Amino acid sequence: METTIHKIEVEQAKKSKINQVDFDNLSFGDVFTDHMMVCDFRNGVWETPKIIPYQPITLEPSARVFHYGQAIFEGMKAYKDDQDKVWLFRPEDNFKRLNTSCVRMAMPEVPEGYFFEGLKTLLQLEDAWIKPGLGNSLYLRPFVIASQAGIIASPATEYKFMIICSPAQAYYGGEVRVKIAEKYSRAADGGFGFAKAAGNYAGQFYPTQLAQKEGFQQVVWTDANTHEYIEEAGTMNVFVRIDDTLYTSPTGDRILDGVTRKSVITLAKDQGITVVERPVKVAELIDAQRTGALKEMFGSGTAAVISPISGFGYKGEKYELPKLESSYASRLKKQLTDIQYNAAEDRYGWRYGV
Ligand code: COI
Repeated sequence: METTIHKIEVEQAKKSKINQVDFDNLSFGDVFTDHMMVCDFRNGVWETPKIIPYQPITLEPSARVFHYGQAIFEGMKAYKDDQDKVWLFRPEDNFKRLNTSCVRMAMPEVPEGYFFEGLKTLLQLEDAWIKPGLGNSLYLRPFVIASQAGIIASPATEYKFMIICSPAQAYYGGEVRVKIAEKYSRAADGGFGFAKAAGNYAGQFYPTQLAQKEGFQQVVWTDANTHEYIEEAGTMNVFVRIDDTLYTSPTGDRILDGVTRKSVITLAKDQGITVVERPVKVAELIDAQRTGALKEMFGSGTAAVISPISGFGYKGEKYELPKLESSYASRLKKQLTDIQYNAAEDRYGWRYGV
């Protein structure tokens, strides 16, 4: 499915907004750079992408995306090293997952050449928006929406593939406390929990609002059938350390195949940590917390990086996690970000120079 393109048409913004941005106080996803990529699917083909100034787009009110949620996205980051060189992290995995999501939502797959050429051209244009230094990044949001007008409930024949960019720092400002879901669920067997489909996120907002009223930042979803096993959290995959073993739910129909998740598994295994991918029972977690065997929990994701979980709530009870001097989460985060920011050798070939 490789499409070779030699030149993306670029219309440069007349004036940059960069001087209006306070890069030391960014709130995730609020500020966007000067340009965006737009690529239209019409008459059965993806047309050559264009890069244009960041601006609103016009769609018919009847466009399918508004009614049936035919929309998917990816989350990626560009990092700048001490020599001002820009890197992506495992972008081939994001590209593959974008198309896995497209297929599941009956949308046309995006050509690889358009994805990579679009990213590279955008990153060259937005170089000044990528600040060096651990924790700074340019968050990249490729997405595909059904743009065709008409409210018949069937897949559209017209789509837009776009990439927008937002300078980012930490996703979570402070501690992350999670509520373990008792009633609501995120995904079911045969569903599309594995896809980065917009609806997977919309469906989480209401139960997450309820959890936030109780003082939690996120919900850890449990399996839809029994609610006995933990799955993933709203914006992250979840890892649990019991004694010195790390557990995480296996991917499948219901769980997002996180790029950070699989990187954490590789990094942990390579330093001798036992990692077990199997369903983890909530009851097991509570027992381990009571005996002191539950050492840590953390989430992993592109936006969240590796975010320690400081406590969890379940059936009206609140459980605290110990504050460790040297946690797996902090060790793995350092190793991961050192690779991402070109501060350490990358023996996995994960870094992708732009
Ligand atoms: C990411 O980590 O990039 C995600 O897509 C999660 C998002 C909802 C912030």
